[in-house]
Amino acid sequence: MQTKKENKQRNRKKTSLEISCFTMLRVSLVLLVLSSVFIGWVNSHEESGEWSCDSDSEIRVQAEFKPGLVSLDGHADDWKDIDGFEFSLLPALDPDDDHEYKGGKMTVKALHDGRDVFFLLQVDGEYVYSKGENTKCPSVALMFQVGEDATYHNMGGCKEHSDSCTNKTCKGHEVDIMHFSIGNAIPGRLYGGNPIDNRDGNGNDKFGHLVDVYGWNPHCRYLDGIGPSGNDSSAQNDWKGAWWHSSFNVHSGFVEEDSPYASGGQKGTYYFEFSRPLRTMDRLQQDAQLTIGGLSKMSVAFWYPVDGNPWHGSGHYSINCDWVPLDISSGSSMLRKSGTGSSGDTASIFALLLSVVALCVSVFVGYRVFRPPSHHFTPMENL
Ligand SMILES: *[C@@H]1O[C@H](CO)[C@@H](O)[C@H](O)[C@H]1NC(C)=O
Ligand SMILES: *[C@@H]1O[C@H](CO)[C@@H](O)[C@H](O)[C@H]1NC(C)=O
Repeated sequence: MQTKKENKQRNRKKTSLEISCFTMLRVSLVLLVLSSVFIGWVNSHEESGEWSCDSDSEIRVQAEFKPGLVSLDGHADDWKDIDGFEFSLLPALDPDDDHEYKGGKMTVKALHDGRDVFFLLQVDGEYVYSKGENTKCPSVALMFQVGEDATYHNMGGCKEHSDSCTNKTCKGHEVDIMHFSIGNAIPGRLYGGNPIDNRDGNGNDKFGHLVDVYGWNPHCRYLDGIGPSGNDSSAQNDWKGAWWHSSFNVHSGFVEEDSPYASGGQKGTYYFEFSRPLRTMDRLQQDAQLTIGGLSKMSVAFWYPVDGNPWHGSGHYSINCDWVPLDISSGSSMLRKSGTGSSGDTASIFALLLSVVALCVSVFVGYRVFRPPSHHFTPMENL
C-alpha cells in the first residue's frame, strides 16, 4: 500500500500499453496464487461414504486417449508405456489386510481410442488351469455404476430380495458387470460378444463365458436382456476379451487340444485384457455409458483357487472397498497427463501467465522496432 504513490509516479512515465501489460501480468500472478490456495483446500476435503471403508481418495483409474496402441490378444507388451494403477487385493466381503491375496498386487491399466475403452488387468499367480472347471481357474470381473443410487457395497445395494427385485423396485441401483471365467477359454483367443448369442438378444457368451451382466444386489443378477419381469431381445454382450499367462510360449496360436497350455504350478503373471464401446445401444439401463472427459465409477474383482480349492461366488478379492473413479480423458487434455485434474488447472493458469508474458514482450518489441520516427512510407509506384 505504501508504495502506491511511487508506483503511480513510475507508471505515469510509461506508455498505456506497458501499463495494461503489467496489469495483466499482475492479475494472472494473483490468479496463479489464488488457484493453488483453492486447490489445496479442495484436496483436503474428503467425503465419507455410507459403507464404512477407508478408501484412499487419491486412487483412480485413468483411461487416456491412445488410439492404435493395443491389440486385444491378452498380451501386455503393447501396454508397456501406459502407467498402471496398483491395488492390493483384499477379500471383497471382509477387506482385512491379513487375508490379502498372497500372490501379489493387481495392476489395472486403461486407455481409450475415442470409440472403445480398453482394460488390462495384470496379477501374479502360479499357473493353475483345469479345463471346463471355471472355479478351479482364476477369474475376473469388472463392475461399473449405472444407476446413481448404486453403491459399490452389495453390488448396487438394492434392499429387495431375489423374488421381489424388479427394474421398478430396484430402480436407480443398477450396476453393470463383465465376468470372465476362463475354464473354457483358449488363451490368446477372443471371447465375449458374438453373433450367435447376440442374435438371442442377451449378454451371454456360450463359448468362453465372458458375459455381460447387470444387477441390483448380489442376489439379483441377470444376463443383459434377461429379467425377472420379462426378457427383452434388444440386449447384447458388448464386451470382448482375452487372457494369457507369462509361462506360455508364444507361437502361432493355441487350440483346445493344447490344454492345459503349460504345466501347472509355474510362477508367473496372469493377464486379462478387455474392450467395450464407450457407449452401447442399451435401452434398459443395464450398461454403464462412458463419456469422454467424464468420470465413471468402477471396481475389479478377482477369484483364485487358493491352495487348489475351488472358489465360490462371494469368495472374491476386490481392488478397493468402494468405487474407484474411472477417468476417460479427452484427447485434447495433454496438460492433464500427470493425473489429477487439479494439477492440470494449475498448469493451465501457469500457461496463461506465460502467454501473457510472451504477448507483452512481443507487443513491446514490436512497438520498439516499428516506432515510426524518420522512415517515410514510399509507395511502389514512386520508385
Ligand atoms: C427369459 O429368458 C430366460 C433364459 O433364456 C428363460 O429361462 C426365461 O424363461 C425367459 N423368461 C420369459 C418370461 O420368457
Ligand atoms: C422393465 O423390464 C421390462 C422387461 O424388459 C420392460 O418391458 C419394462 O419396460 C421395464 N420397466 C422399466 C421401468 O424399465
